[in-house]
Amino acid sequence: MQTPWEYRYANRTSRMGSSVIRELLKLTEQPDLISFGGGLPAPEVFPLEEFKKACIYVLDNFGAQSLQYSTTEGYRPLREMISRHTHRYSVSVTPENILITSGSQQALDFIGRVFINQGDHIVVESPTYLGALQAWNAYGAQYIAVPSDENGMIVDKLEEALRIGPKFIYVLPNFQNPSGTTLSLERRTKLVDLADRYGVPIVEDDPYGQLRFEGEHLPSLVWLDSKRRGDNGSYTGNVIYLSTFSKILAPGVRLAWVIAPEQVIRKLVQSKQAADLHSATFNQMVAFEVGKGGFLDEHVKLIRETYKQRRDLMIEMMAETFPAEVHATKPLGGMFLWGILPEWMDASELIKLAIERKVAYVPGGSFHPNGGGKNTMRINFSYSKPELIREGITRLGTLLKEQVAAHKG
Ligand SMILES: Cc1ncc(COP(=O)(O)O)c(C=O)c1O
Repeated sequence: MQTPWEYRYANRTSRMGSSVIRELLKLTEQPDLISFGGGLPAPEVFPLEEFKKACIYVLDNFGAQSLQYSTTEGYRPLREMISRHTHRYSVSVTPENILITSGSQQALDFIGRVFINQGDHIVVESPTYLGALQAWNAYGAQYIAVPSDENGMIVDKLEEALRIGPKFIYVLPNFQNPSGTTLSLERRTKLVDLADRYGVPIVEDDPYGQLRFEGEHLPSLVWLDSKRRGDNGSYTGNVIYLSTFSKILAPGVRLAWVIAPEQVIRKLVQSKQAADLHSATFNQMVAFEVGKGGFLDEHVKLIRETYKQRRDLMIEMMAETFPAEVHATKPLGGMFLWGILPEWMDASELIKLAIERKVAYVPGGSFHPNGGGKNTMRINFSYSKPELIREGITRLGTLLKEQVAAHKG
């Protein structure tokens, strides 16, 4: 039966859908199913003891203040810690350039609210992060999809997109979700130059940048932009930079940060006031106490080591069990591998058979805003323990081999 609410939905809800991933995750809740579908960090690396101590410390030392309302911008010591950390990578930012949000997902929503009018064009990589598309669909965004390869967005194809007059460019330079690829330094420099030349700003989403397993750290777009401008002090540039505590501490605390010019931060603050007043005071204080004094630097080493082992094992198992017709990327960090199936295979059909065999991944088509990628799959390697990676990849490999053999007849 229809409720009186259903025909009162605002027009903007017509493009709101539940994410394919969330729907899939529901199916994968069976206990004996091995899921490489979600984008979950390994729970084994959550610093439980440090959180326990920090909770007690915060309650003992800050008492009621930790349970009180606080400022929308975020807990100042936490913003100062982020600004010091950002300085280490040479971007000169002050706490006034920083807003704490309830996850980067909230920052993506605010960016939509503040910048996107119905019908605005946004340049995205194809494939790109589904959560951003979900956030911006509600504001009526249209997407100009620039293809990517193993070195990230093909920046040579960007100029054509910029001539259409997009609102901004959305890019994930490090160990991209979903494809695991990293934007090369040459392309980063070119992207920042082109964006500046065409007067189109960039939203840089970087949840995984600190999770590099091998190779040299590459400068962020915000750093390259700030260097071009010779900013010294407050950041005034062309980039809004997002990062999060979800992948370096714990996603359940729902804490992330935005770096942007002060004027933009002020506008985002107005958005946050309307949305939730501020991120949880207690969580911010606890995250600061856990993270301070160099703990985070040490902790990310443990995360990198754990994920590198899991990535290596997954690649080894794929080499052993996958048919030669299926290829996978070798990401230099992060949490995802990208599988490329033969053209004739449809990953969204195959997933049904995979779930019957008690193994899951995310079909890649859903990450392509304007279609394509039906023969691709996102495979998460951070969450499953080694024995489950061995078993799950063997199950998937057996299924893929059967499919290839049946196709060959
Ligand atoms: C690229 C990207 N952006 C944003 C997010 C959202 O992260 P948060 O937990 O900070 O909301 C994720 C989470 O997986 C992500 O992969």
